[in-house]
Amino acid sequence: MLEYLRAFLSRDNVLLSGIERQSRGRTDIQPSVEPELGKFLGLLVRLTNAEKVLEIGSGIGYSTIWLGEAVKQTGGRVVTIDNHERTHREVIANIRKAGLENEVNSILGQAEEIVPELEKEWDIIFQDGGKYLYPLLYDTLVPLLKKGGLLIADDTLFHENTRIRKLLGAYTDEYNKRVFSDSRLYSVILPVGHGVTLSVKVED
Ligand SMILES: C[S@@+](CC[C@H](N)C(=O)[O-])C[C@H]1O[C@@H](n2cnc3c(N)ncnc32)[C@H](O)[C@@H]1O
Repeated sequence: MLEYLRAFLSRDNVLLSGIERQSRGRTDIQPSVEPELGKFLGLLVRLTNAEKVLEIGSGIGYSTIWLGEAVKQTGGRVVTIDNHERTHREVIANIRKAGLENEVNSILGQAEEIVPELEKEWDIIFQDGGKYLYPLLYDTLVPLLKKGGLLIADDTLFHENTRIRKLLGAYTDEYNKRVFSDSRLYSVILPVGHGVTLSVKVED
């Protein structure tokens, strides 16, 4: 099924296929989102005409490029955060190569320190940093989102995954429980990649 689905999946920036190839052989970085999730993120930005997009966990910038290409069309900007110095340097280089310097602002640091200092009214918040951050930052992130905005978390089916991922799955399980008992959010878990929890903020 994946092969069929991916046959339709054009990349929005030429650098994306290069990063996919390069990442396959690397053990020094954490995995990027699947291309179908990248495309889905691009679709969500376009669908909601999102201008203010926050990403937690840039990695080497694969998902950031999907988001960056999308905000080019909405006239918006992406702020992306990662706490790993070398990874951060690679993001900066990849964003430059992708021609997205005007669309993306990459910040080096701990998300748990940076996020509470951010301004409000984000259109989209995409979480793909350390899974422990999901429950930790929950109470901070929901108020930062504008009404009608999207809160997106990757890997939220880890709980149902391999043994090693089950450990991280305790955090994503806690996150899902918070999200689905929160009357401010209307949510769904999609079986894309290792699971994506997508929530729209329906109430302040
Ligand atoms: C799964 S990777 C992100 C992949 C990226 N979203 C992509 O698709 O290309 C997770 C990233 O989160 C970063 N990270 C983990 N804990 C963090 C924290 N507390 N603050 C900021 N970044 C963090 C790691 O350095 C890593 O690069």
